Amino acid sequence: MRGHNTASYFIHNIGELWTPEGKAAAAGAAMQKIKKIRGACLYVKDGRIAWAGEEGRLRASNSAIAREAFDAAPYDAGGRSCIPGFVDSHTHFIFAGWREEEFFWRAQGVPYMELHRRGGGIQNSVLATRGASLEDLVLLGRKRLDTMLSLGITTVEGKSGYGLDLETELRQLRAMRELSRAGAPDIVPTFMGAHSIPPEFKGQPRAYLSFLAEDVLPRVKSEKLAHFVDIFCEEGVFGIEDSRWYLERARAAGFALKIHADEVAPLGGTALAAELGAVSADHLLKASGDHIAALAASGTVACLLPLTAFNLREPYASGRRFIDAGCPVALASDLNPGSCHSQSIPLIFALAVLYMGMSIEEALTALTLNGAAALELARRTGSLETGKDADFLLLDAPSPAHLAYHAGMNLVHTVFKRGVPIWQNGNMLGWESPSSGQEALLPAESLSHIGHPD
Ligand code: NIG
Ligand code: FE
Repeated sequence: MRGHNTASYFIHNIGELWTPEGKAAAAGAAMQKIKKIRGACLYVKDGRIAWAGEEGRLRASNSAIAREAFDAAPYDAGGRSCIPGFVDSHTHFIFAGWREEEFFWRAQGVPYMELHRRGGGIQNSVLATRGASLEDLVLLGRKRLDTMLSLGITTVEGKSGYGLDLETELRQLRAMRELSRAGAPDIVPTFMGAHSIPPEFKGQPRAYLSFLAEDVLPRVKSEKLAHFVDIFCEEGVFGIEDSRWYLERARAAGFALKIHADEVAPLGGTALAAELGAVSADHLLKASGDHIAALAASGTVACLLPLTAFNLREPYASGRRFIDAGCPVALASDLNPGSCHSQSIPLIFALAVLYMGMSIEEALTALTLNGAAALELARRTGSLETGKDADFLLLDAPSPAHLAYHAGMNLVHTVFKRGVPIWQNGNMLGWESPSSGQEALLPAESLSHIGHPD
Protein backbone atom coordinates (compact mmCIF):
# COMPACT_ATOMS: atom_id res chain seq x y z
CA MET A 1 0.00 0.00 0.00
CA ARG A 2 1.33 3.38 -0.95
CA GLY A 3 0.53 7.00 -0.23
CA HIS A 4 -3.01 7.51 -1.43
CA ASN A 5 -4.28 4.40 0.29
CA THR A 6 -3.74 6.05 3.62
CA ALA A 7 -6.33 8.70 2.71
CA SER A 8 -8.80 9.05 5.54
CA TYR A 9 -11.53 11.70 5.59
CA PHE A 10 -14.85 12.40 7.18
CA ILE A 11 -16.94 13.86 4.38
CA HIS A 12 -19.90 15.63 5.89
CA ASN A 13 -22.65 17.97 4.78
CA ILE A 14 -23.60 15.93 1.71
CA GLY A 15 -26.98 17.20 0.50
CA GLU A 16 -28.20 14.00 -1.10
CA LEU A 17 -26.33 10.74 -1.67
CA TRP A 18 -27.49 8.23 -4.27
CA THR A 19 -25.98 4.81 -4.75
CA PRO A 20 -26.87 1.38 -6.09
CA GLU A 21 -25.99 -1.47 -3.78
CA GLY A 22 -24.37 -4.84 -4.22
CA LYS A 23 -21.22 -6.59 -5.34
CA ALA A 24 -22.58 -7.89 -8.62
CA ALA A 25 -24.55 -6.45 -11.52
CA ALA A 26 -28.11 -5.34 -10.80
CA ALA A 27 -30.37 -7.05 -13.35
CA GLY A 28 -33.82 -6.08 -14.58
CA ALA A 29 -36.05 -4.48 -11.95
CA ALA A 30 -33.17 -4.33 -9.44
CA MET A 31 -31.60 -1.56 -11.53
CA GLN A 32 -34.24 0.84 -10.22
CA LYS A 33 -33.21 0.27 -6.59
CA ILE A 34 -31.08 3.23 -5.64
CA LYS A 35 -30.44 4.07 -2.01
CA LYS A 36 -31.12 7.78 -1.48
CA ILE A 37 -29.91 9.47 1.69
CA ARG A 38 -30.49 13.10 2.59
CA GLY A 39 -27.99 14.72 4.98
CA ALA A 40 -25.43 12.01 4.28
CA CYS A 41 -21.83 11.57 5.28
CA LEU A 42 -19.03 9.24 4.24
CA TYR A 43 -16.20 8.01 6.37
CA VAL A 44 -13.27 7.08 4.17
CA LYS A 45 -10.50 5.07 5.75
CA ASP A 46 -7.31 4.07 3.96
CA GLY A 47 -8.88 4.78 0.60
CA ARG A 48 -11.98 2.68 1.23
CA ILE A 49 -15.45 3.42 2.45
CA ALA A 50 -15.69 2.61 6.15
CA TRP A 51 -19.19 4.03 6.61
CA ALA A 52 -21.83 5.61 4.37
CA GLY A 53 -25.17 6.84 5.61
CA GLU A 54 -27.14 9.53 7.37
CA GLU A 55 -24.95 11.92 9.31
CA GLY A 56 -27.52 12.33 12.11
CA ARG A 57 -27.68 8.59 12.61
CA LEU A 58 -23.92 8.28 12.89
CA ARG A 59 -23.80 11.15 15.39
CA ALA A 60 -26.55 9.59 17.49
CA SER A 61 -24.93 6.14 17.46
CA ASN A 62 -21.91 7.05 19.59
CA SER A 63 -20.32 3.88 18.23
CA ALA A 64 -16.60 3.15 17.86
CA ILE A 65 -16.82 3.81 14.12
CA ALA A 66 -18.56 7.13 14.81
CA ARG A 67 -15.78 8.22 17.16
CA GLU A 68 -13.19 7.21 14.58
CA ALA A 69 -15.04 9.06 11.83
CA PHE A 70 -15.27 12.28 13.83
CA ASP A 71 -11.54 12.07 14.56
CA ALA A 72 -10.63 11.86 10.88
CA ALA A 73 -9.82 14.97 8.83
CA PRO A 74 -13.14 16.70 8.08
CA TYR A 75 -14.10 17.52 4.51
CA ASP A 76 -17.12 19.75 3.97
CA ALA A 77 -19.11 18.70 0.89
CA GLY A 78 -20.88 22.05 1.00
CA GLY A 79 -24.35 20.52 0.63
CA ARG A 80 -23.47 19.02 -2.77
CA SER A 81 -24.93 15.74 -3.86
CA CYS A 82 -22.81 12.60 -4.05
CA ILE A 83 -22.74 9.49 -6.27
CA PRO A 84 -20.22 6.74 -7.07
CA GLY A 85 -17.57 7.55 -9.68
CA PHE A 86 -18.57 6.59 -13.21
CA VAL A 87 -17.24 3.39 -14.76
CA ASP A 88 -16.87 3.73 -18.54
CA SER A 89 -16.78 0.07 -19.50
CA HIS A 90 -16.26 0.37 -23.26
CA THR A 91 -13.75 2.71 -24.96
CA HIS A 92 -11.09 2.66 -27.65
CA PHE A 93 -9.17 5.61 -26.18
CA ILE A 94 -5.65 4.67 -27.35
CA PHE A 95 -5.44 5.78 -30.98
CA ALA A 96 -3.50 8.21 -33.17
CA GLY A 97 -4.85 10.41 -35.94
CA TRP A 98 -8.34 11.70 -36.63
CA ARG A 99 -11.17 10.90 -39.02
CA GLU A 100 -13.23 14.07 -39.01
CA GLU A 101 -13.80 13.90 -42.78
CA GLU A 102 -15.67 10.61 -42.26
CA PHE A 103 -17.91 12.31 -39.72
CA PHE A 104 -19.03 14.81 -42.36
CA TRP A 105 -19.44 12.11 -45.02
CA ARG A 106 -21.64 10.18 -42.65
CA ALA A 107 -23.59 13.35 -41.94
CA GLN A 108 -24.30 13.50 -45.67
CA GLY A 109 -25.57 9.94 -45.65
CA VAL A 110 -22.58 7.66 -46.38
CA PRO A 111 -23.05 4.56 -44.16
CA TYR A 112 -20.35 3.70 -41.59
CA MET A 113 -19.76 0.22 -43.07
CA GLU A 114 -19.47 1.69 -46.57
CA LEU A 115 -16.41 3.64 -45.39
CA HIS A 116 -15.10 0.41 -43.89
CA ARG A 117 -15.58 -1.43 -47.22
CA ARG A 118 -13.81 1.35 -49.09
CA GLY A 119 -10.74 0.74 -46.93
CA GLY A 120 -11.30 3.83 -44.76
CA GLY A 121 -12.77 3.70 -41.30
CA ILE A 122 -10.81 1.65 -38.78
CA GLN A 123 -8.06 1.12 -41.36
CA ASN A 124 -7.27 4.86 -41.34
CA SER A 125 -6.73 4.79 -37.59
CA VAL A 126 -4.59 1.67 -37.99
CA LEU A 127 -2.23 3.52 -40.35
CA ALA A 128 -1.86 6.43 -37.95
CA THR A 129 -1.50 4.22 -34.87
CA ARG A 130 1.11 1.98 -36.47
CA GLY A 131 3.14 5.17 -37.05
CA ALA A 132 2.87 6.33 -33.43
CA SER A 133 5.51 5.60 -30.78
CA LEU A 134 4.76 4.33 -27.30
CA GLU A 135 5.46 7.82 -26.00
CA ASP A 136 3.02 9.37 -28.51
CA LEU A 137 0.29 6.95 -27.45
CA VAL A 138 0.91 7.61 -23.76
CA LEU A 139 0.66 11.37 -24.28
CA LEU A 140 -2.53 11.07 -26.31
CA GLY A 141 -3.97 8.69 -23.73
CA ARG A 142 -3.08 10.95 -20.80
CA LYS A 143 -4.94 13.86 -22.32
CA ARG A 144 -8.04 11.73 -22.83
CA LEU A 145 -7.83 10.34 -19.29
CA ASP A 146 -7.75 13.90 -17.94
CA THR A 147 -10.94 14.65 -19.84
CA MET A 148 -12.48 11.49 -18.39
CA LEU A 149 -11.58 12.59 -14.87
CA SER A 150 -13.22 15.96 -15.45
CA LEU A 151 -16.39 14.04 -16.37
CA GLY A 152 -16.21 11.93 -13.22
CA ILE A 153 -14.94 8.68 -14.77
CA THR A 154 -12.89 6.92 -12.10
CA THR A 155 -12.49 3.56 -13.89
CA VAL A 156 -12.22 3.04 -17.63
CA GLU A 157 -11.86 0.14 -20.02
CA GLY A 158 -9.61 0.60 -23.05
CA LYS A 159 -9.26 -1.61 -26.11
CA SER A 160 -6.39 -2.23 -28.48
CA GLY A 161 -7.38 -2.83 -32.10
CA TYR A 162 -5.75 -0.04 -34.08
CA GLY A 163 -2.58 -2.00 -34.72
CA LEU A 164 -3.76 -5.32 -36.14
CA ASP A 165 -0.14 -6.48 -36.04
CA LEU A 166 1.84 -7.90 -33.15
CA GLU A 167 3.98 -4.89 -32.36
CA THR A 168 1.34 -2.18 -32.56
CA GLU A 169 -1.26 -4.17 -30.65
CA LEU A 170 1.24 -4.76 -27.85
CA ARG A 171 2.25 -1.08 -27.99
CA GLN A 172 -1.35 0.03 -27.45
CA LEU A 173 -1.65 -2.29 -24.45
CA ARG A 174 1.70 -1.19 -23.08
CA ALA A 175 0.62 2.44 -23.36
CA MET A 176 -2.33 1.59 -21.10
CA ARG A 177 -0.03 -0.19 -18.68
CA GLU A 178 2.17 2.88 -18.49
CA LEU A 179 -0.81 5.14 -17.97
CA SER A 180 -2.05 2.82 -15.22
CA ARG A 181 1.21 3.23 -13.40
CA ALA A 182 1.01 6.99 -13.62
CA GLY A 183 -2.36 7.64 -12.10
CA ALA A 184 -6.15 7.71 -12.13
CA PRO A 185 -8.51 6.65 -13.53
CA ASP A 186 -7.98 2.92 -13.17
CA ILE A 187 -7.63 1.33 -16.59
CA VAL A 188 -8.88 -2.14 -17.50
CA PRO A 189 -7.24 -3.19 -20.79
CA THR A 190 -8.91 -5.33 -23.44
CA PHE A 191 -7.14 -7.00 -26.35
CA MET A 192 -9.11 -6.31 -29.52
CA GLY A 193 -6.76 -7.40 -32.28
CA ALA A 194 -9.93 -8.82 -33.85
CA HIS A 195 -11.24 -5.33 -34.61
CA SER A 196 -10.84 -5.53 -38.39
CA ILE A 197 -8.96 -7.57 -40.98
CA PRO A 198 -5.62 -5.92 -41.81
CA PRO A 199 -4.49 -5.55 -45.45
CA GLU A 200 -1.89 -8.27 -44.84
CA PHE A 201 -4.75 -10.79 -44.42
CA LYS A 202 -7.28 -9.27 -46.84
CA GLY A 203 -10.17 -11.67 -47.45
CA GLN A 204 -8.83 -14.22 -44.94
CA PRO A 205 -10.54 -13.62 -41.61
CA ARG A 206 -9.81 -17.13 -40.28
CA ALA A 207 -6.11 -16.92 -41.14
CA TYR A 208 -5.89 -13.58 -39.35
CA LEU A 209 -7.72 -14.93 -36.28
CA SER A 210 -5.36 -17.95 -36.25
CA PHE A 211 -2.43 -15.57 -36.25
CA LEU A 212 -3.95 -13.69 -33.31
CA ALA A 213 -4.71 -16.90 -31.41
CA GLU A 214 -1.31 -18.46 -31.99
CA ASP A 215 1.13 -15.55 -32.09
CA VAL A 216 -0.45 -12.63 -30.25
CA LEU A 217 -2.70 -13.95 -27.46
CA PRO A 218 0.15 -15.89 -25.79
CA ARG A 219 2.25 -12.70 -25.67
CA VAL A 220 -0.62 -10.66 -24.27
CA LYS A 221 -1.17 -13.32 -21.63
CA SER A 222 2.44 -13.84 -20.63
CA GLU A 223 3.00 -10.08 -20.26
CA LYS A 224 -0.37 -9.73 -18.43
CA LEU A 225 -1.32 -6.94 -20.80
CA ALA A 226 -5.06 -7.53 -20.95
CA HIS A 227 -7.88 -9.07 -18.95
CA PHE A 228 -10.51 -9.21 -21.71
CA VAL A 229 -10.57 -10.26 -25.36
CA ASP A 230 -13.12 -8.58 -27.64
CA ILE A 231 -14.09 -9.07 -31.31
CA PHE A 232 -16.02 -7.02 -33.89
CA CYS A 233 -18.60 -9.66 -34.81
CA GLU A 234 -20.20 -7.97 -37.80
CA GLU A 235 -21.25 -8.55 -41.38
CA GLY A 236 -18.19 -8.00 -43.57
CA VAL A 237 -15.78 -8.29 -40.62
CA PHE A 238 -15.87 -11.45 -38.45
CA GLY A 239 -18.87 -13.77 -38.83
CA ILE A 240 -20.48 -15.91 -36.14
CA GLU A 241 -18.47 -19.07 -36.85
CA ASP A 242 -15.13 -17.26 -36.96
CA SER A 243 -16.03 -15.31 -33.81
CA ARG A 244 -17.00 -18.46 -31.92
CA TRP A 245 -13.81 -20.23 -33.06
CA TYR A 246 -11.61 -17.35 -31.90
CA LEU A 247 -13.38 -16.57 -28.63
CA GLU A 248 -13.29 -20.21 -27.57
CA ARG A 249 -9.53 -20.10 -27.99
CA ALA A 250 -9.27 -16.85 -26.10
CA ARG A 251 -11.36 -18.28 -23.27
CA ALA A 252 -9.20 -21.41 -23.15
CA ALA A 253 -6.16 -19.15 -22.91
CA GLY A 254 -7.64 -17.62 -19.76
CA PHE A 255 -9.22 -14.40 -21.03
CA ALA A 256 -12.66 -13.11 -20.11
CA LEU A 257 -14.78 -12.25 -23.15
CA LYS A 258 -16.57 -9.27 -24.64
CA ILE A 259 -18.25 -8.99 -28.05
CA HIS A 260 -19.15 -6.06 -30.31
CA ALA A 261 -22.47 -7.64 -31.20
CA ASP A 262 -25.30 -6.79 -33.58
CA GLU A 263 -24.17 -3.19 -34.00
CA VAL A 264 -24.90 -2.70 -37.71
CA ALA A 265 -26.44 -5.96 -38.98
CA PRO A 266 -28.46 -8.51 -36.97
CA LEU A 267 -25.83 -11.25 -37.19
CA GLY A 268 -26.44 -13.01 -33.87
CA GLY A 269 -23.48 -11.84 -31.79
CA THR A 270 -25.85 -11.25 -28.86
CA ALA A 271 -26.80 -14.94 -28.74
CA LEU A 272 -23.15 -15.91 -29.19
CA ALA A 273 -22.22 -13.79 -26.15
CA ALA A 274 -24.86 -15.63 -24.10
CA GLU A 275 -23.72 -19.02 -25.39
CA LEU A 276 -20.07 -18.36 -24.53
CA GLY A 277 -20.78 -16.73 -21.18
CA ALA A 278 -19.18 -13.46 -22.23
CA VAL A 279 -18.94 -10.88 -19.44
CA SER A 280 -20.59 -8.30 -21.69
CA ALA A 281 -22.22 -7.99 -25.10
CA ASP A 282 -21.88 -4.49 -26.46
CA HIS A 283 -23.84 -2.20 -28.85
CA LEU A 284 -26.84 -4.55 -29.50
CA LEU A 285 -28.65 -2.03 -31.72
CA LYS A 286 -30.02 -4.83 -33.89
CA ALA A 287 -30.41 -7.58 -31.25
CA SER A 288 -33.59 -9.66 -31.61
CA GLY A 289 -36.06 -10.41 -28.82
CA ASP A 290 -35.04 -14.07 -28.57
CA HIS A 291 -31.41 -13.16 -28.29
CA ILE A 292 -32.13 -10.57 -25.60
CA ALA A 293 -33.92 -13.29 -23.61
CA ALA A 294 -30.88 -15.55 -24.00
CA LEU A 295 -28.66 -12.73 -22.79
CA ALA A 296 -30.82 -12.21 -19.71
CA ALA A 297 -30.63 -15.93 -18.91
CA SER A 298 -26.84 -15.96 -19.19
CA GLY A 299 -26.32 -12.95 -16.90
CA THR A 300 -24.11 -11.31 -19.53
CA VAL A 301 -24.11 -7.54 -19.12
CA ALA A 302 -25.85 -5.73 -22.00
CA CYS A 303 -23.56 -2.77 -22.58
CA LEU A 304 -25.44 -0.08 -24.51
CA LEU A 305 -23.59 2.75 -26.25
CA PRO A 306 -26.00 5.58 -27.05
CA LEU A 307 -23.32 8.05 -28.16
CA THR A 308 -22.49 5.70 -31.06
CA ALA A 309 -26.13 5.43 -32.12
CA PHE A 310 -26.29 9.25 -31.89
CA ASN A 311 -23.21 9.63 -34.09
CA LEU A 312 -24.28 6.97 -36.59
CA ARG A 313 -27.82 8.36 -36.59
CA GLU A 314 -29.20 4.91 -35.82
CA PRO A 315 -32.19 4.27 -33.53
CA TYR A 316 -31.09 3.94 -29.89
CA ALA A 317 -31.13 0.52 -28.26
CA SER A 318 -34.18 0.37 -26.02
CA GLY A 319 -32.75 0.16 -22.54
CA ARG A 320 -36.31 -0.48 -21.37
CA ARG A 321 -36.59 -3.62 -23.47
CA PHE A 322 -33.35 -5.05 -22.10
CA ILE A 323 -34.25 -4.21 -18.50
CA ASP A 324 -37.77 -5.59 -18.82
CA ALA A 325 -36.28 -8.79 -20.22
CA GLY A 326 -34.23 -9.07 -17.00
CA CYS A 327 -30.79 -8.09 -18.31
CA PRO A 328 -28.22 -6.16 -16.34
CA VAL A 329 -27.68 -3.06 -18.50
CA ALA A 330 -24.52 -0.94 -18.51
CA LEU A 331 -24.07 2.32 -20.37
CA ALA A 332 -20.68 3.34 -21.76
CA SER A 333 -19.16 5.87 -24.14
CA ASP A 334 -17.46 3.78 -26.90
CA LEU A 335 -15.04 6.70 -27.30
CA ASN A 336 -13.16 6.07 -30.57
CA PRO A 337 -11.93 8.11 -33.55
CA GLY A 338 -14.58 6.82 -35.97
CA SER A 339 -18.09 5.81 -35.07
CA CYS A 340 -18.14 7.85 -31.86
CA HIS A 341 -15.67 10.60 -31.16
CA SER A 342 -17.40 11.53 -27.94
CA GLN A 343 -17.24 10.59 -24.31
CA SER A 344 -19.92 12.83 -22.93
CA ILE A 345 -21.30 11.16 -19.84
CA PRO A 346 -23.81 14.02 -19.47
CA LEU A 347 -25.16 13.32 -22.95
CA ILE A 348 -25.43 9.58 -22.14
CA PHE A 349 -27.69 10.40 -19.16
CA ALA A 350 -29.91 12.64 -21.26
CA LEU A 351 -30.20 10.12 -24.11
CA ALA A 352 -30.86 7.21 -21.75
CA VAL A 353 -33.73 9.00 -20.04
CA LEU A 354 -35.18 10.82 -23.04
CA TYR A 355 -34.77 8.20 -25.77
CA MET A 356 -33.98 4.79 -24.28
CA GLY A 357 -36.86 4.49 -21.85
CA MET A 358 -34.62 4.36 -18.78
CA SER A 359 -35.25 6.08 -15.46
CA ILE A 360 -32.54 8.28 -13.93
CA GLU A 361 -32.03 5.57 -11.28
CA GLU A 362 -31.52 2.88 -13.93
CA ALA A 363 -29.14 5.12 -15.85
CA LEU A 364 -27.10 5.73 -12.69
CA THR A 365 -26.89 1.99 -11.95
CA ALA A 366 -25.84 1.42 -15.57
CA LEU A 367 -22.97 3.91 -15.35
CA THR A 368 -21.69 2.79 -11.95
CA LEU A 369 -22.37 -0.67 -10.50
CA ASN A 370 -23.21 -2.35 -13.81
CA GLY A 371 -20.26 -0.68 -15.56
CA ALA A 372 -18.07 -2.14 -12.83
CA ALA A 373 -19.72 -5.55 -13.33
CA ALA A 374 -19.00 -5.34 -17.07
CA LEU A 375 -15.33 -5.16 -16.02
CA GLU A 376 -15.60 -7.82 -13.30
CA LEU A 377 -14.90 -5.12 -10.73
CA ALA A 378 -18.24 -4.86 -8.96
CA ARG A 379 -16.86 -6.26 -5.72
CA ARG A 380 -14.42 -3.40 -5.57
CA THR A 381 -16.10 -0.29 -6.99
CA GLY A 382 -19.36 1.01 -8.50
CA SER A 383 -21.30 1.73 -5.29
CA LEU A 384 -20.83 3.56 -2.01
CA GLU A 385 -20.79 0.77 0.55
CA THR A 386 -18.51 -0.27 3.36
CA GLY A 387 -15.41 -2.02 2.05
CA LYS A 388 -15.51 -0.67 -1.49
CA ASP A 389 -12.95 1.72 -2.93
CA ALA A 390 -13.83 5.31 -2.06
CA ASP A 391 -14.40 6.34 -5.69
CA PHE A 392 -17.07 9.03 -5.67
CA LEU A 393 -18.18 12.38 -7.03
CA LEU A 394 -19.57 15.55 -5.54
CA LEU A 395 -22.03 17.17 -7.93
CA ASP A 396 -22.87 20.83 -8.26
CA ALA A 397 -26.55 20.05 -8.04
CA PRO A 398 -29.03 19.59 -5.20
CA SER A 399 -29.89 16.09 -6.42
CA PRO A 400 -28.33 13.51 -8.76
CA ALA A 401 -31.62 13.66 -10.68
CA HIS A 402 -30.11 16.74 -12.32
CA LEU A 403 -27.65 14.47 -14.18
CA ALA A 404 -30.36 13.93 -16.79
CA TYR A 405 -32.48 17.02 -16.15
CA HIS A 406 -29.58 19.46 -16.70
CA ALA A 407 -29.23 17.81 -20.10
CA GLY A 408 -25.78 17.54 -21.58
CA MET A 409 -24.08 19.58 -18.82
CA ASN A 410 -21.17 18.41 -16.70
CA LEU A 411 -22.19 18.69 -13.03
CA VAL A 412 -19.04 17.12 -11.58
CA HIS A 413 -17.49 19.37 -8.93
CA THR A 414 -15.02 17.06 -7.16
CA VAL A 415 -13.71 13.60 -8.06
CA PHE A 416 -12.39 11.31 -5.32
CA LYS A 417 -10.35 8.27 -6.29
CA ARG A 418 -9.66 5.82 -3.49
CA GLY A 419 -10.42 8.55 -1.01
CA VAL A 420 -8.24 11.26 -2.54
CA PRO A 421 -9.79 14.38 -4.05
CA ILE A 422 -7.98 14.44 -7.40
CA TRP A 423 -10.10 16.75 -9.51
CA GLN A 424 -11.99 19.83 -8.48
CA ASN A 425 -13.84 22.50 -10.35
CA GLY A 426 -11.96 21.97 -13.58
CA ASN A 427 -8.53 21.56 -12.00
CA MET A 428 -6.31 18.57 -11.37
CA LEU A 429 -5.31 18.45 -7.70
CA GLY A 430 -1.95 17.14 -6.56
CA TRP A 431 -1.26 14.96 -9.55
CA GLU A 432 1.94 15.15 -11.60
CA SER A 433 2.12 14.15 -15.23
CA PRO A 434 4.20 11.04 -16.01
CA SER A 435 6.74 13.10 -17.93
CA SER A 436 7.49 15.27 -14.88
CA GLY A 437 9.56 12.48 -13.36
CA GLN A 438 7.85 12.88 -10.01
CA GLU A 439 6.10 10.08 -8.30
CA ALA A 440 2.43 10.19 -9.10
CA LEU A 441 -0.02 10.74 -6.29
CA LEU A 442 -1.99 7.74 -7.41
CA PRO A 443 0.12 4.67 -7.98
CA ALA A 444 -1.64 2.19 -10.18
CA GLU A 445 -3.25 -0.71 -8.52
CA SER A 446 -4.72 -1.55 -11.89
CA LEU A 447 -1.82 -3.80 -12.72
CA SER A 448 -2.55 -6.03 -9.81
CA HIS A 449 -6.05 -6.57 -11.09
CA ILE A 450 -5.31 -6.91 -14.79
CA GLY A 451 -4.92 -10.61 -14.34
CA HIS A 452 -7.44 -10.89 -11.53
CA PRO A 453 -10.04 -8.14 -11.51
CA ASP A 454 -11.63 -8.86 -8.17
O1 NIG B 1 -17.38 0.18 -31.29
N1 NIG B 1 -17.46 -1.12 -34.30
C1 NIG B 1 -16.28 -1.33 -34.10
N2 NIG B 1 -15.52 -0.60 -33.32
C2 NIG B 1 -15.84 0.70 -32.90
C3 NIG B 1 -15.58 1.71 -33.97
C4 NIG B 1 -14.16 1.82 -34.26
C5 NIG B 1 -13.82 2.85 -35.26
O2 NIG B 1 -14.66 3.28 -36.09
O3 NIG B 1 -12.65 3.26 -35.24
C6 NIG B 1 -17.23 0.76 -32.34
O4 NIG B 1 -18.14 1.35 -32.91
FE1 FE C 1 -16.53 -0.17 -29.58
